[in-house]
Formats: sequence, C-alpha cells, structure tokens
Amino acid sequence: MQKDILCLAIETSCDETSVAIVKNGREVLSNIISTQIDIHKKFGGVVPEIASRNHVENITYVIREAIEKANITLEDVDIIACTYGPGLVGALLVGVSTAKAMAYALNKPLVGVHHIEGHIAANYITNKELEPPYLCLVVSGGHSHLIHVKDYTEFDIIGKTRDDAVGEAFDKVARTVGLGYPGGPKIDKLAKEGKPTYNLPKTHFENLDFSFSGIKTAVINLVNKEKENLNINDLCASFEEAVTDVLIENLSIAAKNIGTDKIAIAGGVSANSYLRERMKKLGEENNLKIYYPELVLCTDNAAMIGAAAYYNYLKGKTSTYDMNAIPNLKIGEQ
Ligand code: KG4
Ligand code: ZN
Repeated sequence: MQKDILCLAIETSCDETSVAIVKNGREVLSNIISTQIDIHKKFGGVVPEIASRNHVENITYVIREAIEKANITLEDVDIIACTYGPGLVGALLVGVSTAKAMAYALNKPLVGVHHIEGHIAANYITNKELEPPYLCLVVSGGHSHLIHVKDYTEFDIIGKTRDDAVGEAFDKVARTVGLGYPGGPKIDKLAKEGKPTYNLPKTHFENLDFSFSGIKTAVINLVNKEKENLNINDLCASFEEAVTDVLIENLSIAAKNIGTDKIAIAGGVSANSYLRERMKKLGEENNLKIYYPELVLCTDNAAMIGAAAYYNYLKGKTSTYDMNAIPNLKIGEQ
C-alpha cells in the first residue's frame, strides 16, 4: 500500500491567512482561516499593503494552530505547498517565502500551486468520488472561467470573462447600493427576500466567453434613476438571476460540446445559494452530476491548496527555491 502523504499548505493570495494539513489530497486534518475582512471592510475593499502586513503578523500563529489542530508534528509533514499566483504580489510573497523557508529547513519537497487550480481541487475534498475529466465553472472575485479539467493537473480554458469577474460584479453592485464589502454574501441574503422584477442585460458571445460589466453599468443607471423608489431586495434578485442565466446557459452548452455528464463549480461565488439551486436544476433536467465544495471550501482557504498540491506532487510537479510570487499567473502555467 502507498504511504500516506501529509501536506502543509499555505494560502495568502488575498485577505485570508490560511494554513491547512491535508492527507492524500482529500482528507482535511486542519484548515485554519484567519480572515482580514473586518480590517478591509472600512476601506470598501482589500488594501494590498495592509493585507501583506497582516499576513506577516499572522502567519506563524496560523501555522502553529494548524499543526496543533491536526495533532501532528512538523516532522510528520511530507510536502510543503503554497499559492504562488495569481493574487496580490505582496500578499503572495508572505506565503511563498514562508513555504520556501519551511521546505528548506525541514528538507521537504516544495510545491507551488495556482490559486484557481486550488479552488477547483476543493471539490476533491467534499466529493470523494469525483475524478477528472469534468467541466468546472470557476467563479471568484478575480476569475470567471469555464474549464475542462482533463486530468488532475491538465486544464483547458473553454470560456472566460472579457471584463469583470462574477465576484467583482457582485462586490461592485453591492457597493453601489451601499451594502459594503464583501458584497456577494449580502446580495445572496437580500435576494432571497426579493423578486427578479428589474430587467437587466445579459451579454452573449459567439463563443463561451462572458461579460458582466454591462449588468453592473445597468444596475448603476437603475440606482441613479429609481433613487429612493429602488427596491434593493428586488434588485439583488434581478442581478443574481441575470448573472446566473448567462452562467447556466454557457455551462450547458459547454457540457454538450465536450460531452461530459459531470459539472463542478468552484470559487467564492460558488457559495451563492441561487447559483447552487440553479445548478441543481440544470443537473436534474439534463441528467448531469453536479458537484460543489462545502461552503467553507468555496472561499479562500489553504485546504484546497493542499488538495491541488498532492496531485502536482504525484505528477512530479514540484518547485525549486527560485519560485517567485506571480500576480498574473495563467492557469496551467508552471
Ligand atoms: O474565491 P474567493 O474567496 O477569492 C478570490 O479568489 O477572488 O472569492 C471572493 C468572492 C467575492 O467577490 C465575494 O463577494 C464572493 O466571492 N462571494 C459570493 C458569496 N460568497 C462569497 N458571491 C455570491 N454569493 C455568495 N454567497
Ligand atoms: Zn480565491
């Protein structure tokens, strides 16, 4: 029988300092997430310099807590992993430098992970039976991609946003109507109390790309026109419906094109309850199997990085000490 592989994984690409211990890519022994949301909230979004400073202050405590919670010692760890892109360069550098120092000091392999590949891999933790190939919709604060996951470390981008990411659109709309940061969870909650009464534009292209800046602009115009007559709950429901219609339509075309019956969703917006409801319906109507990560694994966390790192490691995709933070790292790039 193959020896168990324990991974210590670090995620610091944005505003969560997270460290996890993951066994064989699928079993989470600990996943500590120290969020900075309260610090950035008063600025209406993440302030990069403040994020990096907080990562520096937090990282050693979060590592210690992850080790203690997993009830292991540092000697038990087999591989050290971290997110090395994409993300905020100063924030990424904290995780990258820490991972390199630990790998060197402990003499363990170092594995750099693409943040989005991590989001996709969150699905392996929640759905033990899920194996590639499948189609994955990645919807986060910085990315909106339709990805054909051909193998654990092999990805084909078959559609992407031409402007705003879905999460970015949620956050901008929330800010416009005064809901604060992060907007996604707040819109999710208010939309449940509203009806989709406002007509918002849905952009389609000849291929499977997305565009969300038109919806965002239409919301801003509507807010200026309706002023105090605006029903915010209805606006949230209308916005969610317009965005989700486009996502679901492209997903169902993509599933037919690549001939798969397995669809996963990943990234912060995959926590959205309306999107999850519509995915479920899509699955039931078209006989597709739908996979989601559990809620805590949808937004940024280190367990998903540990899951992706395990499969990179099995494929021999380890990193050297000259690994650097790459803020605009492309998916599938090494
Ligand atoms: O994946 P993530 O934690 O960070 C990035 O890699 O970007 O995603 C954060 C995004 C934010 O835009 C946030 O508003 C959105 O995910 N989000 C949601 C929900 N929870 C988080 N959007 C819609 N509904 C939610 N329940
Ligand atoms: Zn993320």
